[in-house]
Amino acid sequence: MCVIAIYPGSFDPITNGHLDLIQRGSRLFDRLVVSILRNETKEPLFSVEERIEMLREVLCVYPNVEVDSFGGLLVDHAAARSATVLLRGIRAISDYEYELQMALMNRRLQPGLETVFMMANEIYSFISSRLVKEVFSLGGSITGLVPPSVEERLQRRLPKIHNKEA
Ligand code: PNS
Repeated sequence: MCVIAIYPGSFDPITNGHLDLIQRGSRLFDRLVVSILRNETKEPLFSVEERIEMLREVLCVYPNVEVDSFGGLLVDHAAARSATVLLRGIRAISDYEYELQMALMNRRLQPGLETVFMMANEIYSFISSRLVKEVFSLGGSITGLVPPSVEERLQRRLPKIHNKEA
C-alpha cells in the first residue's frame, strides 16, 4: 500500500522547523505533498507562486516530496490527491488546542483521513514564520532559522516590509 500524506500550511515563508518536519515526514510516508493554502484572508508577504518556488528550491533534494497548493477545504484537496494522512507539527502545548480543533473538524468532514502529529525538533520549537518576519524586518539575525535561499529572498523583500511599517 502506498501512503500519501499532505503537509498543509501557509509557509510564508518556510522555516527550518517546517523543513525538519518535512525531512522526517518524508521517511514515514511513501509520498509527501507539501501544500500551500491559497485562500488566506491575511495578506501574505510572499505570493503563493513565490512560496511554491521557495519550497521547490529547498525540497528538490527529497525525491518523494512534492509541492502543491490548494483552496477550499483541506479534506477535498486530500481526496483529490488520494492522500489518507494529514501531517501537522506541534511545537508547544499552545499549538495543541488549535491543532486538536482542526483535526477533529477534519475527521468529522472526512472520517477516513487520519491526522498525524509530529513533535517539532526542540531546537526549532520556538520558530514561527510570523516571528521570523518580525525579527528580520526589525533588523535581527535569522540565520539558522530559515534556509539560506529564503533568507536571500527576505533580504530582497526587506524594503517592502519597511515601507509597510512607514
Ligand atoms: O500554516 P497554518 O496557517 O497553520 O495552516 C493552517 C491550515 C492551512 C492547515 C488550515 O488553515 C487549513 O487547513 N485551511 C483550509 C480550510 C479548511 O479546510 N478548513 C476546515 C478544517 S479546519
